[in-house]
Amino acid sequence: MGKRIGIVGGEEEAHCVHMKRVLEGRGAEVVVLDTNRFPARQDMTFRDDATLLGQDGLTDLHAVYVRTIFYSLPFFEADPTLGQQPGGETLFADWHVDYTAERERQSFLTSFVRALGLRGVKIVNPIESFDLHFLKLLQIAILRDAGIPVPRTCATNDPATLAAFADEVGKVVYKPVTGGASCQRLTDKDLVADRLERLRNAPAIFQEEVPGVNVRVYVVGDEVVSATIIHSDDLDYRGTETGFEPIELPPAVAEMVVRAKDLCGLAFTGADLRLRPDGEFVLLECNPSAMFLGMVQATGAPIDETLADYLLA
Ligand SMILES: Nc1ncnc2c1ncn2[C@@H]1O[C@H](COP(=O)(O)OP(=O)(O)O)[C@@H](O)[C@H]1O
Ligand SMILES: [Mg+2]
Repeated sequence: MGKRIGIVGGEEEAHCVHMKRVLEGRGAEVVVLDTNRFPARQDMTFRDDATLLGQDGLTDLHAVYVRTIFYSLPFFEADPTLGQQPGGETLFADWHVDYTAERERQSFLTSFVRALGLRGVKIVNPIESFDLHFLKLLQIAILRDAGIPVPRTCATNDPATLAAFADEVGKVVYKPVTGGASCQRLTDKDLVADRLERLRNAPAIFQEEVPGVNVRVYVVGDEVVSATIIHSDDLDYRGTETGFEPIELPPAVAEMVVRAKDLCGLAFTGADLRLRPDGEFVLLECNPSAMFLGMVQATGAPIDETLADYLLA
C-alpha cells in the first residue's frame, strides 16, 4: 500500500475529486476529511493524543491537502443557500444559534487539522497561513516590508484621508479589507458626501489601479509551475476571462513570487499579480487555497501533478 494522504474539503468538490484521482493514480490511499458533512454526517473525535475520523486514528497520514478550511473570521454565507435568495446577505438564518454552532464547528476543525500538523503530518497549506488571506492589510504590510512590489495602498474609514489619497494617486480601486468581493474603480460618484460617510460603517482598501494585465502564478514548494496572463475586459477578471496566455517569468520575478509565498507561510499558492505596460510586475496577493483546475484545463500546466509530487515527497 502506498502513502496515505488526507484531503480536507468537500468530498464532491471538483478539486478534491480531481486530486483524489491523481493521488490514487500514484498508488496513494486517500482519505477525505469532509468539512461539509461535519458535524451532521461525519464522525470526528478529538481525544487526548488522538484525532479520529470515525474510528480511523489518521496516525499514518503522510500529508494533508487543505482545499477548504474555515478562517477564524466567518464567511457571509455560512449557509450557502441563503446567498441565493433575496435578502441573501443575511449572515445566518437564526443567527445567534447558527453563529454559535458554526464557530464551534470551525474551532473543532481548525484544531483537528492543526493537531495533525503538530504530530508531524505535512499540511499543505499550513492552517496558520489561511488567516492571512482574510487579513489583506497585514499581508500587504508583510510583503511591502520585505521589499516585494505591491500597489500603493490606503485603507481608511476617514473620507478626508481617502479624498487626499485619490488626489495624490489618480486612478484608484477599492475592495473589502477581507477580500472576496469584486474589486471596483473609484469614480466621482463615490466621492460625494453621503457615499463617503459610509466609510463610517466599515473601512475599505483603496489602492492605486495598477495598469496592465492580470497574471496568475502557481508555485508549489520552490517551483514556479505556471505563469499565465488572464485576459478580461473587466477590472476584476473573475468570471469574465476572455483568454489565457502562458508567459515565461523573468528569473528575478519568479524568485520574488517564491519569496512572497514563503513570507505568507505557504507551501503552495496561486498568486495574483499585475504586469504593467512597462514590464514591471506588482504582486496583489498570495492565495492559500487557490483553485487550479480551470488553469490546468486551459493551459495544460501540470499544477495538479506537481502538487501531488509535493504531497507524496
Ligand atoms: N490595485 C489593483 N489594480 C488593478 N487591479 C486590481 C487591483 N487590486 C485588485 N485588482 C483586480 O481585482 C482582483 C481581485 O483583487 P485581489 O486583491 O486579488 O482580491 P481578492 O482577495 O478578492 O481575490 C485582482 O485579481 C485584479 O484583477
Ligand atoms: Mg485574488
